[in-house]
Amino acid sequence: MKLMREQRERLRKLGQEHLLAFVDELDDTGREVLVRQIAGSDIEKVLRLYERLVKGGSAAGGVPPVEEIKAPPFISYPRGPEEWPAWKEARDAGAGILRRGEAACLMVAGGQGSRLGFDGPKGCFPIGPVTGRTLFQIQFEKVVGAGRRYGRPVPFFIMVSETNEEATREFLEGEGYFGADAGDVYFFRQENLPAVDEDGKIVLAEKGKLFTSPNGHGGCVEALAKNGALEEMERRGAKYVSYFQVDNPLVRAVDPYFIGFHVMSGAEMSLKAVRKREPSEKVGNIVMHRGRLKVIEYSDLPDSAANLRDDRGNLVIGMGSIAIHMFSTGFLRRMASEGGGLPFHVAHKKIRRVDGDGKPVEPDRPNGYKFEMFIFDSLPAAEKATVVETMRENEFSPVKNAEGVSSPATSRADMARVYRDWLKQAGAKGAEGEAAVEISPLVAGDAEELEEAMGGRVPAVRDGLVLDGRQPGEE
Ligand code: UTP
Repeated sequence: MKLMREQRERLRKLGQEHLLAFVDELDDTGREVLVRQIAGSDIEKVLRLYERLVKGGSAAGGVPPVEEIKAPPFISYPRGPEEWPAWKEARDAGAGILRRGEAACLMVAGGQGSRLGFDGPKGCFPIGPVTGRTLFQIQFEKVVGAGRRYGRPVPFFIMVSETNEEATREFLEGEGYFGADAGDVYFFRQENLPAVDEDGKIVLAEKGKLFTSPNGHGGCVEALAKNGALEEMERRGAKYVSYFQVDNPLVRAVDPYFIGFHVMSGAEMSLKAVRKREPSEKVGNIVMHRGRLKVIEYSDLPDSAANLRDDRGNLVIGMGSIAIHMFSTGFLRRMASEGGGLPFHVAHKKIRRVDGDGKPVEPDRPNGYKFEMFIFDSLPAAEKATVVETMRENEFSPVKNAEGVSSPATSRADMARVYRDWLKQAGAKGAEGEAAVEISPLVAGDAEELEEAMGGRVPAVRDGLVLDGRQPGEE
């Protein structure tokens, strides 16, 4: 087989012949699958990354010297009535964009959800505090709800990966896209990359299969352009894209305020930010460096920078990124035309593999390196970028771990608390206590919308209350 000969030669030059060590034990199909996988994998790229990031020890993107780091300017969340007019102006501008059909949503759902340990795409995880609605349903209802509210469907782009594309498509199709028109839902696949072990050898997951994993949420910039999704956005007249991650059920996925600020400030990219709880909190740190915004991962931030204070005693690096962004499609197009490649970061991870004898290995400590791109690394490329403050308690409660912090339990409790707050603000009685309540995003996306939707008939808060737009008894 010609392909086999070519690949054997390629691997020999790269010092990676072990990938074919078990090829004679495979049947014809198994052999062909493996050789095709090798041929389709960018092994050269992974080995270059290994040389530079692991052996060379250079942090992706580079961390600027502490003395060059400045606090980022940001639009602060309104704390008094005098600050609301500017926010309302932004909301009206954002609503105009939505009514003209100029916005799209981009949800990244290609990750492996390994910390959660759930069998299936993370989006299929049941999270609604009363109904057990899945993360996918909640996110879809946000997008569908906004389409109904503003009279124009919001095209919904979903990034998946080799690991979960089939299961995701099947699940969502089976659920009728939770009310979205199939023509408004667009899936696109990010790239998977092989991993490398501590000796610089590409990892075999099985005798006939390379281990691969998705190339990070930042892989969406490249994938949008390569797989026709960006073209589809442009064809549909979407000038602005709201980016969010499937695992944060509190995200305001279609936020007229945020869209408005993004557009009014003429930004190419915007990000929502929360005040950090402590100097070295594990969040992305938003900084200004040489006139450009940048996010520095907590693991890369030296203590000397984390603890910097200004004249008034405030943290210089006091704002954290919560992975909610706006992009202008023109900016995405420009990045794509420049290759779309963001810098890679390296992660030292436990990787299930077969050893040199073909025996499965279940590691109890990190034994290999994965390479990923992060979406926030597109920030420095933006000519103009805007930071908008939001309240963490209202908008950020991701499902990351099976237990403890950022787990289903904390996320459900946060959702119920937010919904109780909306009910209270909309005039509901009995809004105290810890009652589990749930409001479908089809009904409202905040207290203001809830008040409008209920027209003064806000039900009293009680455990198990669900507002999903249906009348009692309706199926
Ligand atoms: P995380 O980095 O938290 O990863 O992704 P994860 O896959 O959810 O979970 P772990 O780290 O394996 O436990 C944040 C968001 O980015 C998406 C995820 O689907 C999630 O919505 N993501 C992450 C991608 O779409 N692709 C990737 O390659 C990585």
